[in-house]
Amino acid sequence: MMTENMVAKGISKFQALFRGKVTREGEYKRAKMGADILCPFLSSPPSVITAILQHANGKLGKYSILYDLGCGDGQVLIGVAAATGAKCIGVDISDFLCATARRKSLEASVGSLVEVWRCDLSTFSFNFDRDGTPTAVFAFLVPSCLQVLSKGLFKTLPKGTLLFLYKFPLPLQDGWTPFAEATVDDAVKQGSLATLFCYLV
Ligand SMILES: C[S@@+](CC[C@H](N)C(=O)[O-])C[C@H]1O[C@@H](n2cnc3c(N)ncnc32)[C@H](O)[C@@H]1O
Repeated sequence: MMTENMVAKGISKFQALFRGKVTREGEYKRAKMGADILCPFLSSPPSVITAILQHANGKLGKYSILYDLGCGDGQVLIGVAAATGAKCIGVDISDFLCATARRKSLEASVGSLVEVWRCDLSTFSFNFDRDGTPTAVFAFLVPSCLQVLSKGLFKTLPKGTLLFLYKFPLPLQDGWTPFAEATVDDAVKQGSLATLFCYLV
C-alpha cells in the first residue's frame, strides 16, 4: 500500500523531472501549456498497457470504449486500440500533444479507432448518449487533479466502469478502494517500479 510519504516523494520527483524537460527540450513551450495545466506531460511506459489489458479481464474488445483523461502523445490509446480493437478516446489540454497523438495513431494504423479531443479536464464531461458508455477510463495525473476528478467527473461514471490510475491512487478518504494494484515500470525513474491502481466503479 502507498503511504503519504511515498506519494509526496513521487510527486516531487515527477515535478523535478518536468522542470528538467522544460528547460532541456522546450517541450513546455511547444505544448503551449498555460494556467489550465493540471498535470505535466509524461508518457506511461508500455508495461502500463499490458497491466491494463490483464486487469480488464477480457472486457476490452472490439465494441468497448476506453478514455485516457490527459492522453498526452497517445501511447495508451494507441497500445490499447492496437491490442483490442476498442475505440479509444483521448482528452488533452495541449494542442501540440493532441496533434501528436493523432499523428502517432495514424502511423500505428489505428487512426480509425482513436479519437483525440482538445479539452480542459476541469470543464470536461462525458456525453454517453453521443459517444457511448465507457468500458474503461485511464488516467496518469497528479493527486491534486485526481482529487478534483473524484468529486466530479469520476462520480458520473456508470457502475461497472473500470478505472485505471497510473502512479497515483484516488484519495482514500473518498471511499474508493482498488480491486487490484499492479506493479509496473516507473515513468519517472528508469529501473524503478510504480503501481497501476485498478478500480471498479
Ligand atoms: C502525466 S501526462 C499523461 C499522458 C498519458 N495519459 C500517458 O499516460 O502516457 C498528463 C497529461 O495531462 C494533460 N493535462 C494537464 N492538464 C490538463 C487539463 N486541464 N485538461 C486536459 N488535459 C490536461 C497534460 O497535457 C498531459 O499530457
